Amino acid sequence: MVTDVVVLAAGKGTRMKSELPKVLHGLAGRPLLQHVIDAAGQLSDAHSIVVTGHGTAEVTDAIKTNNVTFVVQSEQLGTAHAVLQALPKLRKNSTVLILYGDVPLIGVDTLTALISEVTSEQLALLTVELPDPFGYGRILRDEAENVVAIIEEKDATPEQRRIREVNTGVLALSAEMLLAWLPLVGNDNAQREYYLTDLIGLAYSHGVRIQTLQPKVLEEVQGVNNRQQLAELERFYQRQQAIQLMLAGVTLADPQRFDIRGEISTGTDNFIDINVVIEGKVVFGSGIKIGPNCQIINSVIGDNVEIKANTIIEDSRLAPGCVVGPFARLRPGTILEEGAKVGNFVETKKTTVGKFSKINHLSYIGDALLGAHVNVGAGTITCNYDGVNKHRTEIGDDAFIGSNTSLVAPVRVGKMATVGAGSTITQDVPDEQLGLTRAEQKNISGWQRPVKKI
Ligand code: UD1
Ligand code: CA
Repeated sequence: MVTDVVVLAAGKGTRMKSELPKVLHGLAGRPLLQHVIDAAGQLSDAHSIVVTGHGTAEVTDAIKTNNVTFVVQSEQLGTAHAVLQALPKLRKNSTVLILYGDVPLIGVDTLTALISEVTSEQLALLTVELPDPFGYGRILRDEAENVVAIIEEKDATPEQRRIREVNTGVLALSAEMLLAWLPLVGNDNAQREYYLTDLIGLAYSHGVRIQTLQPKVLEEVQGVNNRQQLAELERFYQRQQAIQLMLAGVTLADPQRFDIRGEISTGTDNFIDINVVIEGKVVFGSGIKIGPNCQIINSVIGDNVEIKANTIIEDSRLAPGCVVGPFARLRPGTILEEGAKVGNFVETKKTTVGKFSKINHLSYIGDALLGAHVNVGAGTITCNYDGVNKHRTEIGDDAFIGSNTSLVAPVRVGKMATVGAGSTITQDVPDEQLGLTRAEQKNISGWQRPVKKI
C-alpha cells in the first residue's frame, strides 16, 4: 500500500513565546516534527509532505530525512487550505494520512490501524472522548451512530458542545476522495477558515462511511501549544522509555530522574543511579554500574564497566571492565581498552588507553596512544597543541609516567620506559630508559626564615 502523509506544520505557535518555530522545539532531543516524520517513516511505502508556513527556512533546514517533501502555505487560511498545498505532491491511488506537526507522540500502530480501514467506500477518523472537550471539533452522529459531520467549537450549538467525542485531527482517506472534495470546502464559518473537518460532512453526503478509531493512550493525540504541555509530553515519553529499559533488565534508582534523549540498546543487570542523561546513540553491554549525575553521549559502554558519579562521556568506546570517574570527562575519540582506568578530574580526547592502563588523577591526555599496563601519574599533561597544530603523544606498554609530567608532543615514550616526576619531556624516551628533566635539588643548611617586621 502506498501512503502519502501530509503533516500540517504551518502554524506560528504563538503560545510557545519563542523565536523558534513551534514544531522545532525538542522532545527527548528531537524536534516535535521529527517525531511525526519518524512515525510516518515506519509505515510501508510512505512519503511525507510537510506543509510549512512560519519559519519555513528553519524547518526545512532542521529536518534531515529522506523521503520528505516540503510545501509552503504562505497564509494560514485553515487546515483544509493547508492540505490543499500538498495536493500536487500526492501519488496516484495513494492513501492519504493527515497528521499534525505539533502532535509528536502519535503511534505507528494507531496509524497502521487507521490506514487499513481506508477503502473506496470508507475513510478513517481518529477520535477520542474527553471529559473536557472544550476547543475541539465535536463528532456528530446520527441515530444509527454513523458519523455525519464534525462541528468546530466556535460553530457549535450549546447542545453540540456537550458532545464529548472529539476530532483528534488525524484522518486517513483515499487520494481520490481528497482530490475530489477538498476544492469544494469553503470558509463560510465562524472563523472564516477553510476547515478540513468539512470533508467529513462531504463524505457522508456522498454515501461514504466514516470509520472511527481511538488511540491506545491519550498522549498519542495530545498537541503541544505551550511549554507546559511540552514538558508534560516529555515526562510521559521519558516514563515510557524508562519502563522499557526496566523491562529489558536495567535497574533505575529512580525512573523519574533519568532521561534518554536519543536511542539506547542495552544488555541486562545494569544499574543506573539518579540524574543520568543519555543522548544520541548509546549502546550498553551488561553488568554496568553508572553513578549519579552522569551524561553519556553517542558512546559504547562494554560489560561490567563502572562509571562513577559526575562523569561525562562523549563519542567514546569503553571496553569491558573499565572504571571511569568520579568527575572524569571523556571527550570525542576516547577509546578505553579492557580494564583501563580513568579517575577523577581526568580529561581525555582522541586518545586510546590500552588494556589495564591507568590515568587515575588530574590529567589531560589528548591525541595520544597509550599501550597496555601504562601508569600515568597525577597531573600529567600532553602538550598537544602548539597554538597552530595538534601533535600526537605515544606511550609504550608498561611505561611509567611520573606525576606532574608535561609531554610536549610530538613525543614518544618507549615500552617499559620511565619518566621522572616533574619532567618536561620534549624528546623521545627510548624503551626501558629513564627520562628525566629536573634541576638538581639544593639544600641550604642554616637557612633563616624571614621574620615579620613590626
Ligand atoms: C483542529 C480541527 C479540530 C480538532 C483539532 C484537534 C479543523 C478545522 N479543526 O482545530 O476539529 O479537534 O484540530 O487539535 O481542522 N495549520 C496549518 N495551516 C493552517 C491552519 C492550521 O498548517 O492554515 C496546522 C497548525 O499548525 C496545527 C494544525 O494545523 O498544527 C491544527 O491547527 P489548529 O489551528 O491548531 O486547529 P484547531 O483549531 O485546534
Ligand atoms: Ca484554529
